[in-house]
Amino acid sequence: MSSSSIDNNLAGRLALITGASGGVKNLVVSLIQEYERTYPNRQPPRSSVHKADLSDVEETLGLCEEAKSVHEKPVDILIANAGFGRRITDIEDIPLDVFEHTINVNLRAPFLLAKSVAGGMKAQRWGRIVFISSISGYGVGLNGCRTSPTPLDANALSYILRDYAASKGGLTSMMKNLSTRLAEYNITANDVSPAMIGETGLLPSGDSVPGLVDSIPLGRLGTPQEVANVVTMFCTTGYITGQSVVLAGGLNHK
Ligand SMILES: NC(=O)c1ccc[n+]([C@@H]2O[C@H](COP(=O)([O-])OP(=O)(O)OC[C@H]3O[C@@H](n4cnc5c(N)ncnc54)[C@H](OP(=O)(O)O)[C@@H]3O)[C@@H](O)[C@H]2O)c1
Repeated sequence: MSSSSIDNNLAGRLALITGASGGVKNLVVSLIQEYERTYPNRQPPRSSVHKADLSDVEETLGLCEEAKSVHEKPVDILIANAGFGRRITDIEDIPLDVFEHTINVNLRAPFLLAKSVAGGMKAQRWGRIVFISSISGYGVGLNGCRTSPTPLDANALSYILRDYAASKGGLTSMMKNLSTRLAEYNITANDVSPAMIGETGLLPSGDSVPGLVDSIPLGRLGTPQEVANVVTMFCTTGYITGQSVVLAGGLNHK
């Protein structure tokens, strides 16, 4: 591919973003408002909202079809952001149905979505797949991440969710495999693996978990905007693929 055919332009692309009712909701609205302020004479990005239960196979597949049919084009960019996690401290207390639900929403749904959009991306030889994984996929949770001696509330330790960690680890592994399989079609696959992002359903504020903020080397929670910054970088930088960016304020994930 010559440098003149390198295409990182996102104008006119169709992005399917899941989980937009959560922490990213206000962000999407503010990005559209910012676009309208910056380019007052341009047509604003066309957006549509679709409802689907991502623990359900048919609804997940239907979501892709609906987006393609409403916008009359293939999905160019998949951002699989929706996620589910419940705090249960002890593995013995995790019911099988909760484990399965977590895997279905966090891992099976991104698989189904990637499978649904891959054909269109291959045909046009352009695509971006971004999964929102988690630092827990690296085998560490809040406890394992801790670098400060500040004591944490006992409930906080239950953040180390085994089912959640398993689903996110699977997501990062699937991303790495997809990146090698899809590169020849000029489709990239990457993930953001955050920890401690505030203003979200999972973590509304620093006060949600006593002692948490003090345990983060940068001394604060991350923001949805900072997650979006990394997603944007992946979408506008087609030479990155197979990468997982840990966005965790300096928490140790090794
Ligand atoms: N916040 C953090 O510190 C943090 C850290 C690591 C990773 N993450 C990941 O970041 C992503 C976004 O989460 P968030 O932090 O923004 O939390 P959030 O505000 O709770 O957002 C989660 C989103 O996932 C959606 N969702 C959950 N179950 C669903 C289902 N069965 N079907 C359809 N949608 C479903 C929720 O929709 P409803 O509200 O309609 O249920 C919501 O829009 C998740 O993948 C999460 O695992 C977050």
